[in-house]
Amino acid sequence: MDNSKATKTSLLLFFCVCLCSSSSWRTSEAQHTWQEAFKVLGISWNPNGTLNREIQIPMVDPTPYDDSTTPAPTALSQDIYLSPKSKAYVRLYIPLNPPKNKKLPLVIYLHGGDFVLFSASTVIFHNFCNDIASQFPAVVASVEYRLAPENRLPAAYDDALKAIFWARDQALGTGGRDPWMEYADFSKVFLLGSSAGANIVYHAALRALDFDIRPLQIKGLLLNQAYFGGLQNTQSEIRLKDDPYVALYVNHVLWSLALPRNLNRDHEFCNPISGGTYQGRVNRLPKVYIKGDFGDPLVDRSVQLAQFLYNNGVTIYYRFNAGGFHGIELQNKTAAQELYDDMKYFVNNPFGTSHEDISDKPLYNDMKNIVLSTGSAYASS
Ligand SMILES: *[C@@H]1O[C@H](CO)[C@@H](O)[C@H](O)[C@H]1NC(C)=O
Ligand SMILES: *[C@@H]1O[C@H](CO)[C@@H](O)[C@H](O)[C@H]1NC(C)=O
Repeated sequence: MDNSKATKTSLLLFFCVCLCSSSSWRTSEAQHTWQEAFKVLGISWNPNGTLNREIQIPMVDPTPYDDSTTPAPTALSQDIYLSPKSKAYVRLYIPLNPPKNKKLPLVIYLHGGDFVLFSASTVIFHNFCNDIASQFPAVVASVEYRLAPENRLPAAYDDALKAIFWARDQALGTGGRDPWMEYADFSKVFLLGSSAGANIVYHAALRALDFDIRPLQIKGLLLNQAYFGGLQNTQSEIRLKDDPYVALYVNHVLWSLALPRNLNRDHEFCNPISGGTYQGRVNRLPKVYIKGDFGDPLVDRSVQLAQFLYNNGVTIYYRFNAGGFHGIELQNKTAAQELYDDMKYFVNNPFGTSHEDISDKPLYNDMKNIVLSTGSAYASS
């Protein structure tokens, strides 16, 4: 056998071993494979180790749109690159007719997509930000952050933090200020995220505590159907393990793509109530809005987080709906409007410096519909 033939044979062997072991390798839910999860997610490996993502949901440009088929926007948008070298940008939104004599809250938004998929340009998130900007009204900065597994966590947290620093520099006028940012009230900043974006918001807010971001004042976090996990499955994850949006076996694959290779699902990136470096500082967080749906397998994680933050003295507003599913607000206009109304109330509510201040407010009273015990949650009828 000559050398090249030997190489070919060993390569073949290597390939075969990989294939055989991966196809016989099972996730902890014995009936599912990685290949199935990749198929569901519309992803596959490129030969160079990057991920090929089928574009399942289209992306759109900021306004003005090139094509007239796109519906008229309810807000204006533009992309602002955070540095000449990087691909990181924020998509900035202002309402079509911003009020003349009043500054608007600044909402820094982190989109969903399991840490692995989508962009600030993805149409569903673009439309969501249009709605937030026009309905609150608010200046919205939607962060284009790096995705896993090419860039595992904490890359996305770092990018969110960079967007916060960008907003701080805008507030200071360092290197000039975008004219649209004249509409922003830098003392009323909110971090808003859905799904993986809510996870990123939580971690970015805790990391921001280490930095001088004055004159920015982060007044609240909004966590919509936050994407968290842990080694031990929750009751909702087990009850809804074959969920069409976040099936348990898909979840496990996603976490193995998102987390650094040496960390397991009880690391605080995934399981924020497991302890870790943030313990002892969560009490410095501003007020937090948490929204979950009992038809979403991830709901118990949000209930646990609400309980954890509450026990740590953080002011919590929360709503847990019966039924629903992960990403309901992207498909159901009524559910979207309820969410917008909640968030608008949270952003504009002057209360919320202590538990007593909000104890008679409607969102807070929803807590009475929830039994928080033994790590599982039930909607009382
Ligand atoms: C990896 O391969 C993909 C698909 O061929 C290509 O689009 C991408 O640019 C490559 N990335 C790097 C870092 O080489
Ligand atoms: C949409 O959401 C609302 C409010 O959560 C719910 O009452 C309604 O049944 C949902 N509609 C559909 C078609 O699922």
